[in-house]
Amino acid sequence: MVKAVVAGAAGGIGQPLSLLLKLSPYVTDLALYDVVNSPGVAADLSHISTEGEVKGYLPADGGLEKALTGADIVVIPAGIPRKPGMTRDDLFKINAGIVRDLIEGVAKYSPKAFVLIISNPVNSTVPIAAEVLKKAGVFDPKKLFGVTTLDVVRAQTFVSTVVGDKNPAKYNVPVIGGHSGETIVPLISLSEPKADVPEDKLAELVKRIQFGGDEVVQAKNGAGSATLSMAYAGFRFAEAVLKGAAGEKNIIEPSFVFLEGIEGAEEIKKAVGVDFFSVPVELGPGGATKLFNPLEKITSYEKGLVDVAIEGLSGNITKGVEFITKASESKI
Ligand code: NAD
Ligand code: LMR
Repeated sequence: MVKAVVAGAAGGIGQPLSLLLKLSPYVTDLALYDVVNSPGVAADLSHISTEGEVKGYLPADGGLEKALTGADIVVIPAGIPRKPGMTRDDLFKINAGIVRDLIEGVAKYSPKAFVLIISNPVNSTVPIAAEVLKKAGVFDPKKLFGVTTLDVVRAQTFVSTVVGDKNPAKYNVPVIGGHSGETIVPLISLSEPKADVPEDKLAELVKRIQFGGDEVVQAKNGAGSATLSMAYAGFRFAEAVLKGAAGEKNIIEPSFVFLEGIEGAEEIKKAVGVDFFSVPVELGPGGATKLFNPLEKITSYEKGLVDVAIEGLSGNITKGVEFITKASESKI
């Protein structure tokens, strides 16, 4: 029995993500939570002839408690998306509180669940989640993940376009750092198989991966940001976590994680000097079992990108942490 919860299930990401989870053989129970329309989405999905129950919950009548109780994995795409001209950081004001409140629920009702944060700004919402879980005494760094898989998916797609290969899925391109503009660092030099990107196309390719989100925000012209590609990416990462939990071997995906309490974390933290960073993560029965450090193997151009990423990230992380710690201090 595996119970998955989607919080923000009625939204642009939440609905297709819930559909994909309903189709997954790794999920036997699906709980859809939102402040609107989740019972409708659940009723719709419940007619699909795959195994597993789907239930929808609203905040009334202890809906969050009912949704989260017994959860093995909680995926969170709740919160507002960007409009043209906005940065992800502009979402902080509203999404920080949404993520805090949902994680308080996780700490109370499903403290052992894997928690996957999609809500932006990921560079700050993941530190917020960690602080809330720490405060409640239930933080397990192996189980908290910032979902950066869309950057990996974009890297595969855009690399294959540049090299003129019709099979994007074959390129395994690690993407490290954070999830926002220049904090996103695709490591094209470590692509497997090797991607023969012409030298004069490299900077443009990196920029396209870093700012891929903007392409969608502009094309949607006020109607939100990436939803369908994100649902695919969120599902891909959720299924990777569930495969690892089921004991499957060699499940590795990059994710934005806390750099303590996981094998390999200490060495990466020493190198980057920030508390959270996205690196390739090996997933196993307890969640993140090992972090891989690609920093020794990268080019000097990529080292420069990492330095810029760290600078941007440290402010984002501090902002997230202080959102919880300062609020606690002011209550004393
Ligand atoms: P959306 O507005 O379509 O959906 C958000 C949903 O969250 C809505 O249904 C809303 O009712 C719900 N919601 C709001 N407050 C809630 C609460 N307290 N509890 C439960 N549900 C709540 O937005 P979207 O396009 O689905 O995007 C959602 C978030 O995901 C945004 O913050 C966006 O920036 C982010 N995002 C992240 C990535 C990534 O790579 N990590 C990619 C795309 C989008
Ligand atoms: C993305 O990368 O598509 C998301 O983070 C959404 C956004 O605001 O760009």
